[in-house]
Order: sequence, then structure tokens, then C-alpha cells
Amino acid sequence: MSLIEEIDYGTPRSKSETMVTLTIDGNEVTVPEGTSIMRAAMDAGHQIPKLCATDMVDAFGSCRLCLVEIEGRAGTPASCTTPVMNGLVVHTQTERLKKLRKGVMELYISDHPLDCLTCGANGDCELQDMAGAVGLREVRYGYAGANHLGAAKDESNPYFTFDASKCIVCNRCVRACEETQGTFALTISGRGFESHVSAGMDEPFMQSECVSCGACVSACPTATLQEKTVIELGMPTKSVTTTCAYCGVGCGFKAEMRGTEVIRMTPWKDGKANEGHSCVKGRFAWGYATHKDRVTQPMIRAKITDPWREVSWDEAIAYAASEFKRLQAKFGVNSIGGITSSRCTNEETYLVQKLVRAAFGNNNVDTCARVCHSPTGYGLGQTYGTSAGTQTFKSVAQSDVILVIGANPSEAHPVFASRMKRRLRQGAKLIVIDPRRIELVDAAHVKADFHLQLRPGTNVAMLTALAHVIVTEGLDDAAYVAERCDDRSVAQWREFVARPENSPEAFEGETGVPAALVRGAARLYASGRADGTAQSLADAIAAGGRRPNGAIYYGLGVTEHAQGSTAVMAIANLAMVTGNVGREGVGVNPLRGQNNVQGSCDMGSFPHELPGYRHIGGAEVRAQFDKAWGVTLQSEPGLRIPNMFDAALAGEFKGLYCQGEDIVQSDPDTQHVASALKAMECVVVQDIFLNETAKYAHVFLPGSSFLEKDGTFTNAERRISRVRKVMPPLSGLGDWEATVTLSNALGYPMAYTHPEQIMQEIAALTPTFAGVTYEKIDRLGSVQWPCNDATDEAGTAIMHVDHFVRGKGRFIVTQYVPSDEKVTRKFPLLLTTGRILSQYNVGAQTRRTHNSRWHDEDRLEIHPHDALDRGIRHGDWVGITSRAGETVLRATLTERVQPGVVYTTFHFPESGANVITTDSSDWATNCPEYKVTAVQVMPVAQPSSWQRAYKDFDEDQQRFLADARQAAAVTGK
Ligand code: SF4
Ligand code: SF4
Ligand code: SF4
Ligand code: FES
Repeated sequence: MSLIEEIDYGTPRSKSETMVTLTIDGNEVTVPEGTSIMRAAMDAGHQIPKLCATDMVDAFGSCRLCLVEIEGRAGTPASCTTPVMNGLVVHTQTERLKKLRKGVMELYISDHPLDCLTCGANGDCELQDMAGAVGLREVRYGYAGANHLGAAKDESNPYFTFDASKCIVCNRCVRACEETQGTFALTISGRGFESHVSAGMDEPFMQSECVSCGACVSACPTATLQEKTVIELGMPTKSVTTTCAYCGVGCGFKAEMRGTEVIRMTPWKDGKANEGHSCVKGRFAWGYATHKDRVTQPMIRAKITDPWREVSWDEAIAYAASEFKRLQAKFGVNSIGGITSSRCTNEETYLVQKLVRAAFGNNNVDTCARVCHSPTGYGLGQTYGTSAGTQTFKSVAQSDVILVIGANPSEAHPVFASRMKRRLRQGAKLIVIDPRRIELVDAAHVKADFHLQLRPGTNVAMLTALAHVIVTEGLDDAAYVAERCDDRSVAQWREFVARPENSPEAFEGETGVPAALVRGAARLYASGRADGTAQSLADAIAAGGRRPNGAIYYGLGVTEHAQGSTAVMAIANLAMVTGNVGREGVGVNPLRGQNNVQGSCDMGSFPHELPGYRHIGGAEVRAQFDKAWGVTLQSEPGLRIPNMFDAALAGEFKGLYCQGEDIVQSDPDTQHVASALKAMECVVVQDIFLNETAKYAHVFLPGSSFLEKDGTFTNAERRISRVRKVMPPLSGLGDWEATVTLSNALGYPMAYTHPEQIMQEIAALTPTFAGVTYEKIDRLGSVQWPCNDATDEAGTAIMHVDHFVRGKGRFIVTQYVPSDEKVTRKFPLLLTTGRILSQYNVGAQTRRTHNSRWHDEDRLEIHPHDALDRGIRHGDWVGITSRAGETVLRATLTERVQPGVVYTTFHFPESGANVITTDSSDWATNCPEYKVTAVQVMPVAQPSSWQRAYKDFDEDQQRFLADARQAAAVTGK
């Protein structure tokens, strides 16, 4: 574990395939055309001094430190902005250049504080390095003249400092904010000597548009922009490469440490999902891992009204095992089950489903992915033959038209949003289909060509109407469809979508979107034409020289509906009919919410599927697992999460092992979930905090954070990356070790001593993972499944290249069925839900960081007209009532939502957002219809009765925990 120094080549890599040869300091170098002389010199082993250049952003050429001499050319051009040419002879280290560079450095240093020894960046400062590199020993100008040494610090951001006195106005931060992040929060204000970096309108960072992604901090060559943890704790001494544990982008990070203490997380430049970029969560919001609220001792109690008692791991595991055995003896083998977590590693998830199937002896295993992307599994499985996104994130750089539906990447998948915005700034077209005016619709230097602001619950109508236009106006790719898709399904589907009742005009009343807009968007997606007019594929190819690439990105705004699976299939149909599957720049891409949603589905967490999406009913597959695991598996699927709840309330389901998932806060109809848990006799919760579900538990097993264990996560691109242990588990055991111990106590032996052995078993039993090994991931950085003998060594970047996984692509008729959640006189508004950048999922982690400075409560967004009708003012408390329950939030009046629609986030348990969501769910997968709940909203003066009861219950449970800790402290345990 040494500090991994990443080489900064000064300018970005050229993508050209044409090679150019030149001579630098006597050495011949061959590099791609378009490479800067600076980068070519690095390739040849000659480091040219630089300050304003960094390989994360385009060269700017302002510091004049990187000067070179080129034979036959006058002057001393900047090597960062001068591209290579065949035959150039370059000198980087002449006496003349040395003198010039020393002069430049002298000027910089004369306006820089001389506090290197006490500066937070001592040892990590490029200015300091360059002063050494050019041999600067004295500064002739003195420090008495005008300078910036008294410039004020901006400490407003909780994670980084801006110390203007140290700024050399190199512009790297400004370019990082523009090019890498795409926020454009920074500028250089003033001219000449007065030039300075300013955030927003020369305001503190926290008041500007800054989203605290940290790109500017990473880019800054001095201590001007610096992490506060480095200033407080000192420079790290070693680093370990790992993977972010927040969203499904799966950014690679270097955990930079001193001993076992994390000093900072810096985005990994070789991380293929993020290529050196990050968002505020992964970059800065990791302090929860050592928060005082971490529960690190196992605890047990007989009833949830009893205080907790801290016990040893042995006692907790023995108690849980004896309870599970007792329940199975009394109520039958199917009376218990388990829930795997999309936050845990693949190895841990695999073990929990194995524990349920082999040690519990049933298939009652489900995952929190049930409540987010289970329709993706079903929909893409039916149409294409496998449940996964078709592309890499990088592929978006080849897209001509990007269609974003039911996803808000700027908030939920920010690093991918930055990539997408980069492509949009280069000229790609954008269609947004969303009930809200999300940031992408009108972001800095990005405007949607079409925003189809549909009513919640009408995705299938909208997608079918788009298909209608493509089919009836002849915008389809007939040759692709004939070659790649199933004939019968095509004919049936074409006849269906072409019907007049599926036209944009016919659906206008349902979706609320003018038909002309829908027609324009369909034409744009199919043919790349943004002016709203039709253009056949042949004409589009003739105009552009190739067929335009249309890519679809979607999120929970598609899946979390009564017709979630239908909408996924409608998306798959659209991509197939336009020939947009199977190459770079196109495809169907589900944006996964949590870090390992893809992995938890891959690992066999659904009750009907073994790892690799193989149905439990298949005798051959079952026989393979029977043999490997030494058991006889049940052949029938077990209970899904909602079925577990119903069975619990019916007195048939009595025990649950829930790892890393907070079902009370995240599942719909909170009161129903709580009642089900209360009806169980042994609820075992494994988590890092006493979460909402743990308050209903009888056994609490302390979980480990991603910093405390080894394993792998699989992101939304099917990319499997390593999670590496950087500190010992605070509780003594990693999550996988706790599962192993429980299994052994139940009498089903598991003998793993390292997660690598678990991955070896996964690879041996799962054809799509057959080529996955830790050694390979360590060597290549990551691999993408399918990864086996039939694929490249690194697996499969683009799916369905020559044929679909299922053979021929299958079109499926997508009949629109209006949601049961209809507006009525009693519930006249539609509530929809979503996420916000600074918080993550149920908020358990991010609420315990400074991220709450951006968002410290869930609020209800309501259109000013609807607010006026009800006498609601901005900031008022409002009661939100549905047929499931009532809760109270403060109102935000905004035109981001349309009249008739209200919106909230769900990051705070006391908000009770899921008290009002109902039991309505996707017809195929039971994924809850979070995105459509009919509600009434009225001003109120006090919290709801649920919130008052929640407060009392929470206080009791917190007291039980505090008492247990105090008792343990007294007895010295
Ligand atoms: S933190 Fe990110 S958004 Fe904020 S100024 Fe820096 S680069 Fe821009
Ligand atoms: S803050 Fe840092 S990166 Fe930005 S101009 Fe100043 S020295 Fe350069
Ligand atoms: S939360 Fe997502 S986008 Fe942000 S750093 Fe982590 S993986 Fe990347
Ligand atoms: S590094 Fe080339 S001009 Fe600054």
C-alpha cells in the first residue's frame, strides 16, 4: 500500500490513429497525431516543467513555463499547446529555456506566501515542485510590492478551502469545472493584476452554482483549493484503489491514508467508469464510515419493546441460528427467508442467497433491487435475452441523439451526467421525457431539444406513441429489423403500434404532451433530425455519412410504475426498430440507483433465479448447484419481499435475515412493512447503523462499510471492480464473515477464508462470470460481464453486437393501461418521487456527513398555481394524504413541477415519504409504483399522527441502544 502517484501527462490523450514521429532531446518518439509536444516528451521520458497544464483538461497555455525550442522555428512555443508534427526536432532543456523558466517562476514565487513548511499542501504542491525543477534559489523582486498575499480565504464549503492568497491564476480549476464537470461555476474575474478566480457572481462557493464535485480541487496545482481533511490531518502516506459505494456509476477512487485513517478519497484516473472525475458523495461524503452512530457490537433482545443487550459475535450468531431453527421446526421450512443488499459486494450477496437456498433450505430470498430495477431484468430479458445495459458509459461520446427518460442523472448519476453533458456541448441532441423540468432540460450550455413533460404514469403511452410515429412515417431501420429480429413478433408489433389509437394525437389527453412535440422527438431519435421534420434512415445516412446513433438512458422513473416492465420493453422495442442496439453510441441503458444493483441481481438474489439469471425451475442448472453445494434445492421460486410481508401478517412467515437493506424506510407503505416485521418472531438485521428496520429487529449484527472489506461491485455498465479493505472492520467481522458464521451455526458449513474464494465459486457456477478472477481485475482495473472464453479478456463492452443474447430480438406489444392511482376529487394531485445530489437513497450514510448542509430535509415541490388554490406559501407545512397514509413536509413552490403534480425526495425517515406510497406495483415483478401516488395536499399546523408515533418509537429505540452501550461500558464488555 504505497501512495499511488498518477502520472500527469499535461494534456489529454489524442484519439487519432495516425502516428507522427519527431525527435525530442535526441530521442525519436512516435505518438498519435494531435498529441502535444509536452505529452510526447513525457512518453519519451522528458518531463517539461508545467503549471497551467494538466491532462484532465485541454491545454490553455498561460503560465509560459513549458517553453521549448524547435529547430527551424523562431521563438519558444509552449509545449502544451503545440501539437507534434512529423520530423520536428525539439529541445526541452537548453540554457536559454532554463533561464526563461527561472524568470517565470521568480515572478510566481514573488507573489506567493512563503509558508511552505506549514502549508497543508507541503509535499503535494506543483508550484513547490516546479521551483525545485527549475532550480530557483532566490527571488530578485522582493515581496514589498503589490501582491495578493492578504487575499481572504473562502471556507464556506464544508469539504474544501479556497485560499486566494495562494492562487497563481492558472485557470485549471475553471477549465475543470467547465470541461470535466460541466457546471461552469467558476470564472477568472478582473484583468491583469486584478485577475482572480471567482465562484458564481464573486460569491462564496456555497452560495454559487458549485456542486462540490471536487474537480477543481483535484486540478489545482497549489494549496489554493484543498481538502480540509488534508489541512487538518496532514498529507496521506499511502493509498489503496477501491470503488465508490454510493451510486451505480461505480467510480474508481484512491483511498489515501495515514495508517488506518482515511485522509481523502481522490477519483482514480484509470477508473474506466469515471476517468478521474467524481461527485460530492464519493469524493467527500465518506465520514459516515467512522461516525459515532456506527453500531459495532452485536446485540440481541427477545422483543422489540425490550432494551438491547450487547453480546459477543458468538452469542449473537448462536441466538439467531437457534431462533431460525426453532421457527422452521415449528412453522415449517418456508417460514423464514433473507434479503440481500445492493449496497453489499457481489461476494456477500452471493453468500446470502446461498445461505437461504442451502442453509435455510428454501428460495425465500429477494433483494432491494426488487423495489427499483426488477422490471429492467424482466423487460430486457424478454426482448434481448439478458438483464443488463448494453453499453459502456464511454459510449455516450459517440451518440448523436440522447434520449433520457425517467432519470435525473445530474442528481442521481452525476459523473455520468458530466460525460453526457460533454457530448451534448459537442453538439449531440437531447430528448428529455420527464414530468419534471429536471436540470438537463436547461443546464449550463446544454438545452434539451425536446422536453416531453408527461403526466406521471403515462410512460407506456408516450413510448408507444413514439414508436407509432417511427413506424407510420417510415423512419425505422427495416434492414436491421429483418436481419436481427424475430419476424412474427415484428409483424404483430408493427400492426399494433400503427393503430390510430396509439398515435401521439390519440394519447395527448393521457400524456398531456402536444402531439407535435412527440412527433418531433420521434423523428429526432430515429433520424437525428432536430428540426422536427421527418427524414428516412436512407436520407439520414446520406446527410450524415453514416446512420445516426440514438442512445436511451432510463432510470427509476421508468421502472417504478404499475407498467414498469411494459415501459422497459417499449424502450427495447424503440431501440430495435431504429437499429440502435449493438454498436458504440447507441443502446438501452438502465441507470442503476445503488452501487451494486446490477451485481445483486446477477448474483441470484431473486427468488426465481440462481446466479446468472437462470431459473430455479431448470433441472439441469439446479443439479449443478445441488452438486456444488451438496444440497437438494427446492424447484419452486420462493417469496418476494411483498409476499414475505403478506405471509408474515398471515402468521406463516416468522423469521428474516436482512443484510444492508432498510426495508422500513425504502419499501412502500411503511405502516404495512412495520406491521409485517412486528408479526415476525426473529428479525436479524445486519447494518452499519441502527436503521429504521433495525428498530424492529431482535438480533443486530454490526455491518462493515466498503472501506472495511474486500470484494467486488458491478456497476450499471456490467463492470466488475474491486472493493479493497483499507481499514479493519470496526466490528471485527466483514459482512461476508458474519454470513459464513451464521451458516456454520445453522449446520451448513461454509469454509471461505477470503472473498476471492467466493468469486472463484461464482465463476465456476456462472457461465457469464467464468473468466472473472481477482488477478484479472487487479491487472486490468475492471472487467465487464459476460467475461469468459468466448469474450475478450476484459469481457464484453458492447452487448448484442452481431445478434441478441436470445438470438433474434423480440418485439413485445405494449398495451397502455392507465394506472389505478388516478386523480379523484379526494386525491386530485399526483405525487412522484426522486433523489437529490447530496443525499443518497435512505440517507443513512449521507445524513451523517456535511452533505446535509445542501439538503437537510425532504420538501414537497408544488406548482405555484396548486399552492395558490390551497393557500400554501413557500416554506409552509403541508399535509400530504394518500389512500395509504398521511405525512407532513414543508412546501417548496416551483415551476419545476407542472400543475397537478407534486414531488418529493425520500432521504429522511421522519419525512415518511413511503407512508403515503401505496401497494400498487408492476404487474410482472411487483416493483412498487413509487412514481405515481394520488394525493391531496393541504396546509397543516402539526406533524401527522404517523410522524408523532414515529418520533416516540424512535426515541424509545435510541434509548434502548444508548442503555445497551452504557451497560456494556459499566460491565467493561
Ligand atoms: S467543486 Fe466542482 S462544481 Fe464546484 S467549482 Fe469546483 S469543479 Fe465546479
Ligand atoms: S485556484 Fe488553483 S487551479 Fe484555480 S487558478 Fe488558482 S491556482 Fe489555478
Ligand atoms: S456517487 Fe456515483 S457518481 Fe458519485 S462518486 Fe460515487 S459512483 Fe461516482
Ligand atoms: S504548462 Fe504550458 S503554458 Fe503553462
